Amino acid sequence: MSVRYIQPSCGLKGEIDIPGDKSISHRSIMLGSIAQGTTEITHFLKSADCLSTIGCFRRMGVEIEEKKEYILVHGRGLRGLTPPDGILDTGNSGTTTRLLAGILAGQSFSSTLSGDASLNSRPMARIIAPLNSMGADITSLNHDDCAPLRINPGNLCGIHYHSPVASAQVKSAILLAGLYADEETSVTEPSLSRNHTELMLQNFGACVTSTMHRDGSATAQTEPCRELFGQQILVPGDISSAAYFIAAGLLIPHSEILVKNVGTNFTRAGFLKVCESMGADITLVNRSFEGGEGRADILVKSSALKGTDIEGALIPTLIDEIPILAVMAACAEGTTLIKDAAELKVKETNRIVTVTENLKAMGASVTPTDDGMIIEGGAPLSGAHIQSRLDHRIAMSFAVAGLAASSETVIEDSQCVDVSYPEFFASLESLY
Ligand code: S3P
Repeated sequence: MSVRYIQPSCGLKGEIDIPGDKSISHRSIMLGSIAQGTTEITHFLKSADCLSTIGCFRRMGVEIEEKKEYILVHGRGLRGLTPPDGILDTGNSGTTTRLLAGILAGQSFSSTLSGDASLNSRPMARIIAPLNSMGADITSLNHDDCAPLRINPGNLCGIHYHSPVASAQVKSAILLAGLYADEETSVTEPSLSRNHTELMLQNFGACVTSTMHRDGSATAQTEPCRELFGQQILVPGDISSAAYFIAAGLLIPHSEILVKNVGTNFTRAGFLKVCESMGADITLVNRSFEGGEGRADILVKSSALKGTDIEGALIPTLIDEIPILAVMAACAEGTTLIKDAAELKVKETNRIVTVTENLKAMGASVTPTDDGMIIEGGAPLSGAHIQSRLDHRIAMSFAVAGLAASSETVIEDSQCVDVSYPEFFASLESLY
């Protein structure tokens, strides 16, 4: 049980170096492990979720060295993983569980994936159904379509899957299984979700293509693969982590923050678009590009924000930023409508519920809906007891809300930030 006390701030100043992107860090360990040769990963995110991924691959015989400046993965090739001697513990990590299920579906040994209570209550039918239709043999051990998952060997065939949700985890699980299939595999999603798997697979030598369709849907396709080849990867800073500092700089008067090394991949950068439509004073400088991934430093100055609509194809590009966007909306003038975001219900917590209960505790006017929320902004926030419910993004979003509030805020179970950003509170305090 850990608790953080947040005092109202009258201005934040300084620079923040943003830790590595969580999605890209996971994928770099996974592809590095099933590639031939070594993969060197710089600016890897050493958070609990990514350490779960490392732990799982170590249990399947992959040597992973943690050096001071980088991680070295000694890949075992596409078919070189060895049977684990027990359950693969995926902790709190949906990305580890779902993507790893895609890889394990193609192995010649049986395995079991299981995580913590939150993870084991998240929906897995979304990957079990398409992977089993490829010929995989995956069962939910408690017959509730959740983990623990038992994965037995099967011969995989290529499929063309139409996913009902825009989910990078679903898309990635199928593409990774598709490496082991007998024919090409494709996934069409209603709008484009983050494309890190496609970009990284291409860099590792797989034959992967992406197509956008006129109606906004998107298809990613992979050919079966003989081998992947180890790479050098420079992980950009995580825009989902940067979002808290951008929001803090905008909301707290007399602030000026340089948020450095932020990944700006367009499939992730919806948060920046919404900031602009809310009237934020943000400037992207020092832009660069490597491994298909863009990055920039972002200069943020305090701004008077106004409400906006957040919906449609924008949602998958900012799904993890909705809690902090809701905090920004509560402090903005006017109404913000968030819709088409029913996926919020199946994150680490039901974030429609956890955002609503905590914003209300701070005195904000918020109405939950079936696929989002409506926030009437402008009323000053008051300090409150925040229930993070062990959801890292709720703890960090409401720490920022606490800085903008008129009295002390208490964040319960604040250690859950370790899932994606262990140094979060230290970084925030460095700007006081
Ligand atoms: C992720 C995809 C998203 C996101 C999650 C990380 C990934 O989940 O919310 O934090 O790394 O692929 P969904 O695919 O369920 O939308």
